[in-house]
Amino acid sequence: MTDLVETETRGSLGLIRLNRPPVNALGQALREAVLGAYHAFEGDPAIRAIVLTGSGRFFSAGADITEFEGGRRHPYLTELIAGLEAGTKPVAVIANGIAYGGGFELILGCDYLYVLPQARLAFPEIKLGNIPGAGGTQKLPRLIGGPRALDLILTGRPITAEEALELGIATHLAPDFEAAIAHIAGKVAAGLPRRRVRDLSVPGEVAELEQAAEPYLRKSRGALATAKGVEGVRMAYSTPIDEGLAWEQETFAALNASPESKAQRHVFFAEREARKVRGLPADTPKRPIAKAGVVGAGTMGAGIAMCFANAGIPVTIVEQNRERLDKGLAGMRRTWESAVERGRISAEEAAARLARLTGAVDLASLSDADIVVEAVFEAMDVKRQVFAALDGVCKPGAILATNTSTLDVNRIAEATSRPEDVIGLHFFSPAHVMKLLEVVRADRTAPEVIATGMDLGQKLGKVPVLVGVCDGFAGNRMFINFNREAQLLIETGALPWQVDRVLTDWGLAMGPLAVMDLAGLDIGYAIRKERAATRKPTDPYPFTAADRLAEAGRLGQKTGRGWYLYPDGARRGVPDPEVEALIEQVSEEKGIVRRPVSDEEILHRCLWQLVNTGCQILEEGIAQRASDLDVIFVNGYGFPRTRGGPMFFAEQTGLAKVAADVARYHAEIGDHWRPSDLLLGAAGKGRGLDATA
Ligand SMILES: NC(=O)c1ccc[n+]([C@@H]2O[C@H](COP(=O)([O-])OP(=O)(O)OC[C@H]3O[C@@H](n4cnc5c(N)ncnc54)[C@H](O)[C@@H]3O)[C@@H](O)[C@H]2O)c1
Repeated sequence: MTDLVETETRGSLGLIRLNRPPVNALGQALREAVLGAYHAFEGDPAIRAIVLTGSGRFFSAGADITEFEGGRRHPYLTELIAGLEAGTKPVAVIANGIAYGGGFELILGCDYLYVLPQARLAFPEIKLGNIPGAGGTQKLPRLIGGPRALDLILTGRPITAEEALELGIATHLAPDFEAAIAHIAGKVAAGLPRRRVRDLSVPGEVAELEQAAEPYLRKSRGALATAKGVEGVRMAYSTPIDEGLAWEQETFAALNASPESKAQRHVFFAEREARKVRGLPADTPKRPIAKAGVVGAGTMGAGIAMCFANAGIPVTIVEQNRERLDKGLAGMRRTWESAVERGRISAEEAAARLARLTGAVDLASLSDADIVVEAVFEAMDVKRQVFAALDGVCKPGAILATNTSTLDVNRIAEATSRPEDVIGLHFFSPAHVMKLLEVVRADRTAPEVIATGMDLGQKLGKVPVLVGVCDGFAGNRMFINFNREAQLLIETGALPWQVDRVLTDWGLAMGPLAVMDLAGLDIGYAIRKERAATRKPTDPYPFTAADRLAEAGRLGQKTGRGWYLYPDGARRGVPDPEVEALIEQVSEEKGIVRRPVSDEEILHRCLWQLVNTGCQILEEGIAQRASDLDVIFVNGYGFPRTRGGPMFFAEQTGLAKVAADVARYHAEIGDHWRPSDLLLGAAGKGRGLDATA
């Protein structure tokens, strides 16, 4: 093992370099090593100032979050920082790269900050449901004022070296390490005093903070960490620092133990885990992707092509004819223009993205593409024709991907002479925005094609999750059952606005009925008509009210009426007595005696449908792990990170209770509630779903 810190003497400067690859996480051993090196320099009369810096691309990515689950050992980060503050010699940091979380707090425990151009600073704790816990909430306001500190603490956004200087966090911006050292040496020679951030007082009035806090509190919809962040910064104005620091530590520990923070940490680790493909050696070769092709410039094709262009990969998009191509290209151009107007990207960036895009009307233009993603109409014969044609024009080794939502990727692959090169890449709409990418492994997909698909997903800024072939893959197969249960509840006695309220109160961005109104009721209606012939007679069909609404032209937001009314183009619907009457009539026609449905029944029936279906998916090997299904719902279906996803929520609730509910619903409601063996097995053994899967 290499030394955790490297020390060096430069004239009267004592240099301590953090050296714990890959990210200089501040685990116990590193904290101890830094403190030891610091004390050695403090005690050395030849040293007049101490300089901390990092190795590689990192100053420090912060705490070692595996330590969050308990078993923290001395010296704590707070103790290390207090140690640095207690000495007599000035301490400077040269931030050579990323300084996040605890790394940033370590900086705030020092007197002077030199940022190198590649430095990035952030407090990402809020993303894990927490606030900085080693001085961040108390010291940053003292340094730059309450409102600006609040912005960094509550958004977790990283700032550049320039911004750190403008904000007054950095004292100097140096072109490189040696320039910083030379500058510090000059200052020390002239007599550099200590300048502890903890001794400063917050500039400005607390009223400014209250005003700045308001939008964050509103947007966070009651998130505990946001409220505590505000409280901490407010405290910095008037409370002695040691009291503030003690409050912050207690609050950090309490938030760390909260269900919201646990759930957010679960998602964080689940997203990392999802990248791993079981049985695929880490050194599986990946095919280089330097040029991409997309077939179809409709809703999805255009979004997918933008993903490539946004990620720096030149892409050719092919349509059936000029007119449709021009329409698609114009839409993409508009999307980039509006990103410029809203200040998301620069005009130069938009131009660079546009320059990576080529339009064509013949598949032969894709002959040099390393990957082609097909996004034409959802019809097997159309897709097979396209794949047979691609087989003819694409170079050997090109990956042929389909964005199908419902069709059998194996049958699509069979239309080519190279099924090993065929894979599903299931993007979600809008494809250039949504993070989720289901990477669909077909029976004959080659390992390196899977590895390349997963890798490409990350390069496109997506969260790729591996799934197998089945109707709806993992996400839609689960979500369809969730929606069906919502409809069943309505036929039983609930009303749309009750179902939506229960699920949004739980944390969903939108309820399922409001989502149908947004998407358009004609979409589901058309799919149901198409699938009517293949529907199992034993499956419940609770969509009669939805069908009647669609047939009556109540298509949702776009017609001003759907499940809800949208008077004067309102985006939020209001309940409609006509819909209530229609629902009551449908129940009566079906011989259902409507009964009051409790909020709890709504929540559990909707969520346990997801969980039971998810367990069946795991049993069939369609998904690798329960946590992957959580990743899918958080990134593709608007599920709140603060709940950790449906499978995690079920485990937190207790699988024994979930299994008992499912068994009861099976007896009382119908066969679509047949409990999955995996769920029963895990509940019976008292183990987690992934321990059993
Ligand atoms: N819309 C969604 O939310 C969504 C989400 C995930 C996946 N998908 C899947 O993506 C695919 C495309 O869906 P969409 O919503 O973008 O459809 P769309 O109708 O908006 O676009 C399809 C486009 O493909 C073009 N096209 C058809 N045949 C072609 C051919 N032979 N060569 C070139 N272009 C051809 C059409 O002209 C049309 O512009 C479907 O398989 C769909 O199931 C859609």
